[in-house]
Amino acid sequence: MAIAASVIETLRGIVGDQRVLTDDVSFQQYGVDRTTIWQPAPGVVVLPGSTEEVQAIVQLANIENLAVVPSGGRTGLSGGAVATNGEIVIAMDRMNQVVDFNEVDRTVTVESGMITEQLQVFAEGKGLFYPVWFASTGSSQIGGNIATNAGGINVIRYGMTRNWVMGLKVVDGSGNIMELNRGLVKNNTGLDFRHLFIGSEGILGIITEATMRLTRPPQELSVLVLGVVDFPSIMGVLKTFNDGMDLTAFEFFTHNGMEKVVAHSGVPVPFETKAPFYALIEFEQTSEALLDKAMELFEACVMEGWVEDGVISQSLSQAENLWKLREDMSETLSRWKPYKNDISVNISRMPEFLAKVDVLVANEYPDFEVVWYGHIGDGNLHLNILKPDDLSVETFTARCSGVSKQVAALVQEFNGSVSAEHGVGLLKKDYLSYTRTETELQLMRQIKQVFDPNGIMNPGKLVDAVADT
Ligand code: MLT
Ligand code: ZN
Repeated sequence: MAIAASVIETLRGIVGDQRVLTDDVSFQQYGVDRTTIWQPAPGVVVLPGSTEEVQAIVQLANIENLAVVPSGGRTGLSGGAVATNGEIVIAMDRMNQVVDFNEVDRTVTVESGMITEQLQVFAEGKGLFYPVWFASTGSSQIGGNIATNAGGINVIRYGMTRNWVMGLKVVDGSGNIMELNRGLVKNNTGLDFRHLFIGSEGILGIITEATMRLTRPPQELSVLVLGVVDFPSIMGVLKTFNDGMDLTAFEFFTHNGMEKVVAHSGVPVPFETKAPFYALIEFEQTSEALLDKAMELFEACVMEGWVEDGVISQSLSQAENLWKLREDMSETLSRWKPYKNDISVNISRMPEFLAKVDVLVANEYPDFEVVWYGHIGDGNLHLNILKPDDLSVETFTARCSGVSKQVAALVQEFNGSVSAEHGVGLLKKDYLSYTRTETELQLMRQIKQVFDPNGIMNPGKLVDAVADT
């Protein structure tokens, strides 16, 4: 659907001629995220330079009844930033500056288009640390991280993005500019709208600035990779290490996934013994005693028969190589256009849950290759089904969607979540009712109605507008 020339002219007046893109290359670039299921077809891409410009665009969209899709680093995995229907894509790329830093409060206020890694580098420059870390930190933007409440590999120690947001500046769907919480630690003055915007996937409005909390950097980090004999043993290893020391990460991956990463990234295998599963454990090695403790826990796991072999990093470069085995998984597998399940249950229920998922996957996907990995220390499993090269994306997606209903039913049985950290977007929307009640969904729609009465903000994602149900 084409956007009227008069609207394009008005947009040019708001942001400047060069910042309104209407060519197909830009549509292909800005109308997608990392999913490959939907064809991008926005009506226009606009690159604002200030909150006031974002406001003017949203006000125009309300007058013209045009849909708006907020666009950050486009690294999402659930179709939350996909524009397929003539929408105005508001890309935040130009809004990437530090607005304020306060060393006493240990907070930094940034424009929401700042790349996550830039924030990490800025914090490092101040002797501090921004701890939310995942493989796409080099291209994801802070605003997108907040809108999807991004997780990653350090959640076991530092929590999700939500824990680090001290304040937000937003433009809601009506075009109001609001400052939410203003960086305060204590603020008991009723409903905290900041938390509504975190994880809202752009359906309430657009985040234009964020005040993020920083912390002290971790001391020397040591990385262990252990070869584990089966799923239940991974949980035994997790409990042993969690009880014995403070961990900064506890990840797992399967042998078939690791083989692919080794071939793709050229990193060495951790050791010669081949194990079906690997646990990657990271901790702050603040003393020799802690290293001894880690060795003791490792030996306890060997004695239990859970672990067959293991290695501990002796240098920074070895630690980085061990991490690559896990971190490069997503990029490595993208060549197979995987269907991603991002599910979670309480850690205590993980062993029983894993056993049932294992049977389900073996029965339902006998002809597809499946790669398991994830943040098992957070109860979060990434189940990746690889698309055979000779199968079309449509057929493959239809097949996986069918099985996903069974996966979702199992997650429901275990009181889990159909999206642990990737968000709902378009990909998980049909499964949301498995782990959120109809009352909750209706309340979400009504809240959207309050902030976005005309239903222009990221329509079709997460939940529908009240009028569309
Ligand atoms: C990861 O854990 O690697 C990320 O969530 C990305 C992915 O699952 O592909
Ligand atoms: Zn993940």
